[in-house]
Amino acid sequence: MPFTLDPELRRALAARIRYYNEMGIYDFYRRPVSDRFGDTTGVSIAVGEAEIAVSTNPESGEEMSPRKATAVAPRVVEENIFDAIALKPEQSVSDPVKALKIIREDLGDCTRCVLHKQGRKQIVFGVGNPTADLMFVGEGPGADEDEKGEPFVGRAGQLLNNMIKAMGIEREQVYIANIVKCRPPGNRQPEREECATCSPFLMRQIAVVKPKVIVALGATAAKTLLAMSASMIQLRGRFYDFKPAGVRSNDPNWDGCKLAVTYHPAFLLRDPRQKGEAWKDLQMVMKELGLKAPGKGVE
Ligand code: URA
Repeated sequence: MPFTLDPELRRALAARIRYYNEMGIYDFYRRPVSDRFGDTTGVSIAVGEAEIAVSTNPESGEEMSPRKATAVAPRVVEENIFDAIALKPEQSVSDPVKALKIIREDLGDCTRCVLHKQGRKQIVFGVGNPTADLMFVGEGPGADEDEKGEPFVGRAGQLLNNMIKAMGIEREQVYIANIVKCRPPGNRQPEREECATCSPFLMRQIAVVKPKVIVALGATAAKTLLAMSASMIQLRGRFYDFKPAGVRSNDPNWDGCKLAVTYHPAFLLRDPRQKGEAWKDLQMVMKELGLKAPGKGVE
């Protein structure tokens, strides 16, 4: 059941977010919270490393300190309040190259999650056509990407390049990014919290690029972008209507895009028998984009 935010709480939160925006802080993300205290009169959000809680509880009549924040932990708020109120600095910029640069600068030498201290060499932001119709989203950088600072440049990247070619286009024509921008140690899967912390930057990149179609490569990308948990079999084979969470494009004519899910190229390297299935997914995307295949599929 969707949970509708109390109007008073929404106003209090909007005022707090405006206050942070005025101080030049635009990144807010939700920390996992529990409702073991049973208080649903507040909402907690994270600002950088700190957690704040905004409460409309007339009993409390106070703003909660970071230490007290967990004591007013709400149940999960389904409605994305940030859709309505969070302004991003790149939204006033019409040039997508400049807008992406603003997001990259905002990311800075990021220390927002533990991945910054687990051996990353550099942040892997994203690459490609800033006005691409097609965007690919992977999981996170591996060793080669961490070394080069570009997504999908290793073995999985070579296969992704082949997949793109099979669609009748070039890598330079698409935009490629990952859910997390720092290499998880030992190529482990990024943790949920790492995805939740990093993905707001990806959402902003998507709102700048304004693709017609996003292809989520693998379960981590699919589940994070769609905010749902299901198996790859359940997720593949259809389009989803997608709008980047927590951010709006500055183009009133762009109202989100379609999203398709396919297998991660690294999985296809391990199990090449699934390439035919991935090709079906890509053909669905090609049809949507009016692309014609030069050959017979993914090799
Ligand atoms: N795997 C990913 O998910 N992303 C990359 O950039 C490279 C490998």
